[in-house]
Amino acid sequence: MIRRIAILGSTGSIGKKALRVIEALNSSLVALHRTPNGGGSSLEKEKTKYEIVALSAHSNVELLAEQARRYKPKFVAITNADYAGSLRELVGGLDVEILTGPDGLTEIAQLDEVDVVLTAVVGAAGLPAVLAAAQKGKTLAIANKEPLVIAGELLMEIAKENDSTILPVDSEHSAIFQAMQSGSAEEVSKIILTASGGPFREATVEDIQNVTRQQALSHPVWDMGPKITVDSATMMNKALEVIEAHWLFDMPVEKIEVLIHPESIVHSLVEFVDGSVIAQLGAPDMCLPIQYALTYPARVAGIAKHLRLDELGKLTFERPNLETFRVLSLGFEVARTGGTAAVVFNAANEAAVQEFLAGRIKFVNIVELIEQCLNKHNVKRRVSLEELLEADAWARREVKISLKRRAKSVKPKLKI
Ligand SMILES: NC(=O)c1ccc[n+]([C@@H]2O[C@H](COP(=O)([O-])OP(=O)(O)OC[C@H]3O[C@@H](n4cnc5c(N)ncnc54)[C@H](OP(=O)(O)O)[C@@H]3O)[C@@H](O)[C@H]2O)c1
Repeated sequence: MIRRIAILGSTGSIGKKALRVIEALNSSLVALHRTPNGGGSSLEKEKTKYEIVALSAHSNVELLAEQARRYKPKFVAITNADYAGSLRELVGGLDVEILTGPDGLTEIAQLDEVDVVLTAVVGAAGLPAVLAAAQKGKTLAIANKEPLVIAGELLMEIAKENDSTILPVDSEHSAIFQAMQSGSAEEVSKIILTASGGPFREATVEDIQNVTRQQALSHPVWDMGPKITVDSATMMNKALEVIEAHWLFDMPVEKIEVLIHPESIVHSLVEFVDGSVIAQLGAPDMCLPIQYALTYPARVAGIAKHLRLDELGKLTFERPNLETFRVLSLGFEVARTGGTAAVVFNAANEAAVQEFLAGRIKFVNIVELIEQCLNKHNVKRRVSLEELLEADAWARREVKISLKRRAKSVKPKLKI
């Protein structure tokens, strides 16, 4: 059997790991592990080959070209069209079609030659491609949580209408997806998302007032792209995951909880009505949820590290500090509100994180800007894609306006 794959965002942290996972799945090492009793042939016959049909990047043309040489996809997309020329030069001589601009991403998500679309783009930019893939009935392995957060209702509807299967790659949602297989959806009493707590887990509100970019980017457990690392430091990442879980598992917000688990071994838990709690455990390594989404429903040996619980000794859990991580309470409120609230929540965060990464605002300004935007926004419900995109653009503009206003108010007066 052959699974033909497109990776949207192949040059990012998840994209690169996905390529390593696929390489290993296709290797003889994995085939050896898949063979039962050291030589039986039943599983061997069913061995799946993973063919990389399309890859994409935004501007990292050097890495995309290197990946094109190594994995020989039929298509590559470069979403920032300014880099199309240099990509053309770099892949000259290869038999690969180059697609450019944001439409290039949507095109590779819809290709007839593709069965599985692994979405590892960062931010709301992945939305049109995710919707297009669902419309075409593709299997979607979703790491890019933002489209689910901002257009969860629409995406789940389109996926249902077109028989598109959505498989979570986010480690927490993969864990919930696996634990949910122990009972029916009606038998679930709550789902518990775990969070590492990030670099400021033990910090007070005072402690985080002047934290630096470098401190926010120093995640104690996970090695991720810069945007999600900052989101983990504010706990926006968990707030987005609450909304993601709400849509993915059709779960009322009241049945979703967040628990801090600094060791990041228990990736999330599901409690059933009889009081049983089913958890999924694994090393903190994204290769495992990526692989499960690609091989589902099968489990095969792969490159993810195996757990040694005896070496870990103990696992700890605590409640999140909602004073330090105010954005988490906002996330629950946004999930309950629904409509365009989540688009505004996400877009304001994306814009604010960009400003923080560029060194133009403080860490604590991120949540302030998000809250200001939410307070000004008139929520609309049952909206179209166009209205979602309008609300997204409005929130990004609002962040810019707020920052201009702040800059004016703190301008030193000239002494004459
Ligand atoms: N990293 C993790 O461990 C992890 C875990 C769970 C979920 N996720 C989710 O997975 C997604 C990707 O995270 P990441 O950490 O892999 O991010 P990342 O390392 O920053 O990579 C982002 C990818 O998206 C591309 N990209 C950036 N801006 C784009 C745009 N405007 N249009 C199209 N493509 C664009 C990048 O291309 P260039 O390289 O050319 O810039 C890169 O390939 C996020 O939604 C994140 O929340 C990540």
